[in-house]
Amino acid sequence: MILTDSPDELRAFLEQARRVGRSVGLHPTMGSLHGGHRTIIRRAAAETDVVVVSIFVNPLQFGPGEDFDAYPRDLERDRAQAEEAGADVVFAPSTAAMFPEEPQVTVRVNRLADVLEGAHRPGHFDGVATIVTKLLALAGPCHAYFGEKDYQQLVVVRHLVDDLSLPAVVVGCPTVREPDGLALSSRNAYLSATERSAATVLYHSLLAGKRAVEERGVSDVAEVRAAMTVVAQREELFDLDYAEVVDPGTLSVPPKVGAEVRLLIAGRTGKARLIDNLAANRQED
Ligand code: PAJ
Repeated sequence: MILTDSPDELRAFLEQARRVGRSVGLHPTMGSLHGGHRTIIRRAAAETDVVVVSIFVNPLQFGPGEDFDAYPRDLERDRAQAEEAGADVVFAPSTAAMFPEEPQVTVRVNRLADVLEGAHRPGHFDGVATIVTKLLALAGPCHAYFGEKDYQQLVVVRHLVDDLSLPAVVVGCPTVREPDGLALSSRNAYLSATERSAATVLYHSLLAGKRAVEERGVSDVAEVRAAMTVVAQREELFDLDYAEVVDPGTLSVPPKVGAEVRLLIAGRTGKARLIDNLAANRQED
């Protein structure tokens, strides 16, 4: 396996690989790799010839007062995990290599960044879209693997690639969870033991919304939202930011629960801000 911190070396290596007919799979990460990342890397390795895992804690997507400095970093551990899961290249550039000076040109996400996570984290999706554009530019034509765990990010990236005609095929991968339902996340490392058990409330809240839609056939959006909120507010260690019901493609709140909706939740447990989401499918009347 190759470990490089050089954008030029990455570009040259992948150009050469494509020249001899090999397909490229890219999995962008911020490191602190866990079972969610490993599952995606294994899938990329099954579907493409050369798998690149990028590891870069992207300063552009963190707001003031967020956890950029505290974000866990352990390159040696990440390198071993990526290799074990089937990565061929780990690309771990420094901030100076990616942004020798403050970028004068960045990518701006419009309406999709005004809602949900975007409303709570101004500038976040612009930062994500900018770094993903840069990583795709360095990687060249590829399959790009993203998790449904960050559902709004996945929708933004799909639009980024379509709207700017970037030469990538975006592959969305299901959320990997702990046995008790907590979605794997690098930020789970911030949780104490009691906060860790309280954090299952995100999944339970989503399940309450899913049951309302799928078992009780609730078509009123406010009623589904209330079913989620009531569960979320029962957990004292969880501070709810939002529990929402949206159209899975546009992320806007539908007038009524349609055949397919996405349920999303976000909030804070201790020092960690956690997000999760689930699909819900309503039987048409
Ligand atoms: P990071 O949080 O490291 O996540 C990297 C990728 O792994 C994302 O596509 C995310 O959705 C996916 N992922 C994380 N936890 C997952 C889980 N439990 N199940 C399935 N997939 C999971 O997301 C980012 O980094 C950054 O915003 C990035 C796209 C790298 C841009 O900086």
